[in-house]
Amino acid sequence: MAFTRLSAILSVALAATQVCAVPAKRVTCKTGQVTANAACCALFPVVELMQDQLFDGSECGEEAHSALRLSFHDAIGFSLRGGKGGGADGSILAFNKTENAFHANGGIDDITDGQFPIFLQSGLSAGDFVHLAAAVGTSNCPGAPRLEFMFGRPPPKAPAPDLTVPEPTDTVTKILERFADAGFSPPEAVALLSSHTIAAADVVDVTIPGTPFDSTVGTFDTQVFLEVLLKGKLFPGNGSQPGEVLSPLAGEMRLQSDFRISQDPRTACFWQAMVNNQELMIAEFRAAMSKLQVLGQDKSRLIDCSDVVPVPKSFTGNIKFPATFSRKDVQIACPLLPFPNLATVAGPAPTIPPVPGS
Ligand code: HEM
Repeated sequence: MAFTRLSAILSVALAATQVCAVPAKRVTCKTGQVTANAACCALFPVVELMQDQLFDGSECGEEAHSALRLSFHDAIGFSLRGGKGGGADGSILAFNKTENAFHANGGIDDITDGQFPIFLQSGLSAGDFVHLAAAVGTSNCPGAPRLEFMFGRPPPKAPAPDLTVPEPTDTVTKILERFADAGFSPPEAVALLSSHTIAAADVVDVTIPGTPFDSTVGTFDTQVFLEVLLKGKLFPGNGSQPGEVLSPLAGEMRLQSDFRISQDPRTACFWQAMVNNQELMIAEFRAAMSKLQVLGQDKSRLIDCSDVVPVPKSFTGNIKFPATFSRKDVQIACPLLPFPNLATVAGPAPTIPPVPGS
């Protein structure tokens, strides 16, 4: 069954690349940029403000990574059955004192503190600000898809309740149940975890802030899907911490949740299918993010302003095994799919440096 779904995903991704775009109506803003809807003109100066003051001049650094994490922690405070938060409403920014205190939001205060004064200058609702910042920050990372941005979220009404954000110590069943409760299937959960290709941990082990989850943390490539499958042999910092499991590389952190999801029969084939399949990953990630970033919102009242999001640089070519690693180090959990042939980086095993500014 998982394999049928996987084939469907592969054909949809392929079809998506073959659809011809119908030329859209265009509006030229006073500032000179072109967009599909005049209402989106107000966003270009905000994008510029974010790039200058939040993302250190359009970098794929700590703030861009954290802006993406923030959009997830905001949106997932939602349940299809009601009784949780307002979803992608910016409550995590507007009510940051409340939501930052939740255990799963450890370290999020850095980005809410960084975003808050710029949010106040922007004139946007908190929800629009959080989700535009995620789209813009992600666009700074080569290889990333150009995420959609829907404009017009009303201000959030209340903070989300605690215990909506998955923790790395949670079982796969608990994680998949939480995603399902918010409307995401197991393949969509895996697609969203592509985000961990531009991710690092500050608080899992506080002695080593900024420890990346893969060896190419500044590039939105499929490297994280490969490296989570490599045999683990060390802890990068102060021994084993809750939510952490053995990592293959010095300076790299592996989350228990990522590893278990990579090995679980419900998700392993989707995980493995991403390895060295950039097109699949970005198509699936973009689609799942489009859903995430409007959770709980009345879509009929939102305007599609995706064309204010900068176009990311592309990533072409194949990923590689880190130096000294090869196919024999891969813990295959999906025998149904052939494992791609990958070259190995030359030289001695690397030590992955921390993300600056963490
Ligand atoms: C099973 C679900 C997930 C778990 C258990 C999880 C857990 C974590 C943990 C523990 C960290 C490190 C926090 C720290 O120590 O600073 C982290 C970082 C991050 N997560 Fe997740 N995550 C999940 C899903 C997601 C999703 C769906 C997204 C986005 C769509 C996301 C985006 C990120 C990003 C970008 C970072 C890096 C932040 C930075 O470098 O500042 N995560 N995640």
